[in-house]
Amino acid sequence: MTVLALETSCDETAVAILRGHSGESGSALLASEVASQIAAHEKYGGIVPEIASRNHLIYAPRLLDHVATSAKLRLSEVDAFAATSGPGLASSLMIGASIAKGLAIGFGKPYLAINHLEGHLLSPFFEGEDKGKEIRANVSLIVSGGHTMLVRVDGLGAYKLIGQTVDDAAGEAFDKVAKMLGLGYPGGPEIEKHAAGGDPDRFDLPRSMPDSENFSFSGLKTAVRYLLPKIVGRFCETPGAERRLTQAPYKLDRRLLADLCASFQQAVIDVLVTKTIAAARKYRVNLVTVSGGVSCNQELRRQLGEACVRGGFVFKNAEPWLCTDNAAMIAFAALLRLRAGFQSKVTEEIDPNLRLA
Ligand code: KG4
Ligand code: ZN
Repeated sequence: MTVLALETSCDETAVAILRGHSGESGSALLASEVASQIAAHEKYGGIVPEIASRNHLIYAPRLLDHVATSAKLRLSEVDAFAATSGPGLASSLMIGASIAKGLAIGFGKPYLAINHLEGHLLSPFFEGEDKGKEIRANVSLIVSGGHTMLVRVDGLGAYKLIGQTVDDAAGEAFDKVAKMLGLGYPGGPEIEKHAAGGDPDRFDLPRSMPDSENFSFSGLKTAVRYLLPKIVGRFCETPGAERRLTQAPYKLDRRLLADLCASFQQAVIDVLVTKTIAAARKYRVNLVTVSGGVSCNQELRRQLGEACVRGGFVFKNAEPWLCTDNAAMIAFAALLRLRAGFQSKVTEEIDPNLRLA
């Protein structure tokens, strides 16, 4: 069974083809491509929905050709078509969903509308020995640019929301702090790079809502904003730097930048690790999973992995290429759903606010 999936929920256009082994649980990824639009949006300081949908319209047909060529099959040989149906930008979601629906109607094949968050949540099961044979009960941390949530997973499609951010998502906090520091977008990889070798204890930054299952990162972001003008005057070693550096974006000396990035990154990780382990204990699962763009962060993966070992939990994460937005995770969710007997109507609408649980 071969599934073709499109992911166009935000500013990445992605298409993948996944072949499920018949009568087995395994699968083989035949092709997966992501066209990033970062450069097109960078000069506007954020994602411009019109530009995103225009680019999806340009890239999606090209990617369809590329993946079919790399997978060595014709689109007519695909057994089911899937697309992300939410959450995301309406005008972006519409492009991928319309293409997948059109292909499904044209070739008389099933259509599957997939929740982007389910794609992330299932991605840790994509590789490894069980290859999605069974989605075992787990506590799942989804950390991306748009979402930060803890979900109790009892099986495929059986999700209960434990907690979520009440303001900024973790990735959003990385992106906003990176912007204050004059670093590039996306901010997460930039902060991680600069944090290497920095002292995570140098600056005392807040860990918000310690007694809640929900998250909050806007206080942490604001704490960095207030800290910056204070530290540039006190610690900057570059002559004349003080005068130049009274306004964002702040250009700090290398040491200072490393320590601030490390301290910020550690504050985010502490919150994510503490709440995830507490939830795993409370809900008595023995498996913890993490997914979403922020889970590319090596320090987060290491510290959450170590906390799981200490707590007696098995820890699963996806390969970094599967953590940021891609269509392979959407194809994987679609394949598991097809095998479980699910299908969507082609009349099913996209939903920019689609909930997972
Ligand atoms: O999952 P994703 O590609 O898109 C959404 O669904 O939002 O996540 C993108 C987010 C961005 O905020 C980016 O800064 C963050 O993931 N990110 C990271 C790292 N790589 C990407 N955050 C921290 N450390 C990283 N290495
Ligand atoms: Zn995502």
